Amino acid sequence: LSEHAPDIVWHQHAVTRESRELRQGHQGAVLWFTGLSGSGKSTLAGAVEQALQQQRINTYLLDGDNTRHGLCSDLGFTADDRRENIRRVSEVAALMVDAGLVVLAAFISPHRAERQAARDKLPQGRFLEIFVDTPLDECERRDPKGLYRKARAGEIRNFTGIDAEYEAPDAPELHLDGRQPLATLVDAVLYALRQRRMIP
Ligand code: PPS
Repeated sequence: LSEHAPDIVWHQHAVTRESRELRQGHQGAVLWFTGLSGSGKSTLAGAVEQALQQQRINTYLLDGDNTRHGLCSDLGFTADDRRENIRRVSEVAALMVDAGLVVLAAFISPHRAERQAARDKLPQGRFLEIFVDTPLDECERRDPKGLYRKARAGEIRNFTGIDAEYEAPDAPELHLDGRQPLATLVDAVLYALRQRRMIP
């Protein structure tokens, strides 16, 4: 029960996640892509989503660049705002898993505690943490949005990897070298999903 709403009781509805999953023929899950800005999280998540769609798996891609335009448009990049950002999107991801979707979540999500909290909102075995490990110098070389240049020039504060921390995962289900070709990375994710019987 919510500490702010002691009189609100959980209502168990008749249609459940299990019944939705049975009907569609696969389970809901979260593939959580974490890594520095420019590491390739969104590109990889998008390519994996396309591959899953081809297998008729119901998916949804949650991406920081997009959710920050709506659901999280009131949030910036202080540590507190990032915490709230990840709290909100992980609640949304959990609802989507309840709806039966395979959610691809691509957020820097720089703090271990929030990634753990996102995991804890789901049933056991439904959260796959994927560390897209691209070294800072490579992300800076790519600089697709010109943000590293601005951060180095002091025009952006609290930039992850420059003047804001990134806590690398201790034990991700998948630790990928983000410098590998996209097709290799996609295959690694699909292999991990098959191995865990998360997809056929
Ligand atoms: S977080 O840390 O998980 O809350 O960030 P996220 O919601 O994934 O948003 C990251 C994208 O926001 C842009 N951006 C910044 N990133 C990091 N630090 C600062 N200060 C910042 N300001 C803007 C940046 O384009 C990130 O996009 P990606 O796709 O990660 O490169």
